[in-house]
Amino acid sequence: MVLLDGYTLARLKEEALRHEVQALQQTLRFCPKLVVVLVGTDNASVLYVNMKAKACARVGITCVLEHLSEHTTQEELLSLLDTHNHDTSVHGILVQLPLPKHIDTRRVIEAIDPSKDVDGFHPLNVGRVYSNSLYTGFLPATAMGVMQLLEHYHIEVKGRDVVIVGASNIIGKPLASLMLNAGASISLCHILTKDVGFYTKNADIVCIGVGQPKLLKADMVKEGAVVVDIGINKVEGKVVGDADFEGLKDKVSFITPVPRGVGPMTISCLLQNTLHAAKGCA
Ligand code: GUN
Repeated sequence: MVLLDGYTLARLKEEALRHEVQALQQTLRFCPKLVVVLVGTDNASVLYVNMKAKACARVGITCVLEHLSEHTTQEELLSLLDTHNHDTSVHGILVQLPLPKHIDTRRVIEAIDPSKDVDGFHPLNVGRVYSNSLYTGFLPATAMGVMQLLEHYHIEVKGRDVVIVGASNIIGKPLASLMLNAGASISLCHILTKDVGFYTKNADIVCIGVGQPKLLKADMVKEGAVVVDIGINKVEGKVVGDADFEGLKDKVSFITPVPRGVGPMTISCLLQNTLHAAKGCA
């Protein structure tokens, strides 16, 4: 079994991005700027946002954190986004999800200028991915990170049977699009799927991101399968994924660890998207 080491690959990518940011600063005399908006104090969101800000600092991207009270109204949030949309010194805007219940997430995502939507969640960017017309726009960072990780380890996707467990807008659906665009046959399982094992048992590659520790067990995959674990859960103070790593590790050919698998790749892809936006490519 080979570990899909997202941590090391992400650090390598960051090094390359740091040089690109430096070159931008020297030639064009400006620094890429990302605005991260966090509403409320959800523990996981605070942690993720801090990780994003630290990663920006490592590569030289300016990160402005707008930390708003959980009582912020939708109108106030939309007005803040409007300000950043019109600020030419801001290249990327990200609103950390989930938002408090009184705010309409769709409205907020649609209010972000698509050319600054570094999460790739705006319907225009979603449509570009779905229709495989990504000469402009952004790929959602987690799905992009999974594809880059597989590519780095020369794991062929074209013509393979891929099962994705979890059909969220953030992970499962964009990943299904990218896999399909890359020539895989896709099964997308979700909360109403009667028998997830029926699908995963026949898969060459299983990607799982549902937030349920140990959901994917050894008897649910075939010998030599590739497992990409996108889950992040806390169990007895330890960070674990959605796959039963100990049970699977002697049966699979490749598997991501959690932590240090897909998570760091997501962050490096966000940085890549921000640089892409700063170069005016989106
Ligand atoms: N919440 C969980 N994952 C993400 C993400 O990739 N982007 C944003 N904005 N919020 C998230």
